[in-house]
Amino acid sequence: MVDSTGAWRSVVPSGFVPLLGVVETVAGGSYALRRAENMQQMTVFEHVRHADAACTELRQQLLDTWVAVTDAGGAVGFVPPADPAEIAPALDAALARVIDGRDELGVLRRDGAAVGMGFVAAHTSALRRHWRTVLRVMVDPELQGSGAGGQLLEGLHGIARSLGLEQLHLTVRGGTGVEGFYERFGYTVIGRHPGAVRVAPGDDRDELILVKRL
Ligand SMILES: CC(C)(COP(=O)(O)OP(=O)(O)OC[C@H]1O[C@@H](n2cnc3c(N)ncnc32)[C@H](O)[C@@H]1OP(=O)(O)O)[C@@H](O)C(=O)NCCC(=O)NCCS
Repeated sequence: MVDSTGAWRSVVPSGFVPLLGVVETVAGGSYALRRAENMQQMTVFEHVRHADAACTELRQQLLDTWVAVTDAGGAVGFVPPADPAEIAPALDAALARVIDGRDELGVLRRDGAAVGMGFVAAHTSALRRHWRTVLRVMVDPELQGSGAGGQLLEGLHGIARSLGLEQLHLTVRGGTGVEGFYERFGYTVIGRHPGAVRVAPGDDRDELILVKRL
């Protein structure tokens, strides 16, 4: 739903079994409900208002999440051990694009705190306005495998549809198997960039390119 401030929110916290089957049209809701029996914690998806991306508390929670995900081995732009001072500029650059209205940010909250995130990033070319790139999809390691990632991704799809987008694009590090997560939500692997990711000298990984039609 769109609240009085213009922000889009999933009204269905994951783990809320009694509403099963009632709110299938709410982005982020149907998948969360299917996985409800596995959820120990209640998470809520939020489409963050552009101005709210400047919140220092949110920034710290997202930085903590990114650090924890990296240290747990997540393929989100850095390698463990995570250095917050290295990740912070990347987060600030991503948030700056949300604050100025170019990109959209979706977060998962648990007990009010952000524990997951994903960006729907725009392209500058006028010829590419019908699709965007999904970036930085991650959920706190404690929540992984509980349906939280699916709830987050469906929330991002809801944002994309609200923007009238026709396709979403993303890339994943080869060898992680994480493309299997995206394939469950309608993405197709359309290409492979050999050796695109150098995780260490002499340790190059392929990058897989995925697309989803909305
Ligand atoms: C990728 C990530 C967001 C998935 O979130 P999650 O909470 O673990 O995923 P869910 O529990 O919602 O799983 C949804 C489905 O995807 C599958 N899945 C999840 N992670 C998977 C993986 N790495 N490989 C293959 N399938 C996966 C699950 O088995 C589940 O399938 P099912 O419904 O048939 O049981 C999360 O694991 C994460 O943050 N990983 C680290 C960061 C990262 O690598 N992000 C991707 C950057 S491109």
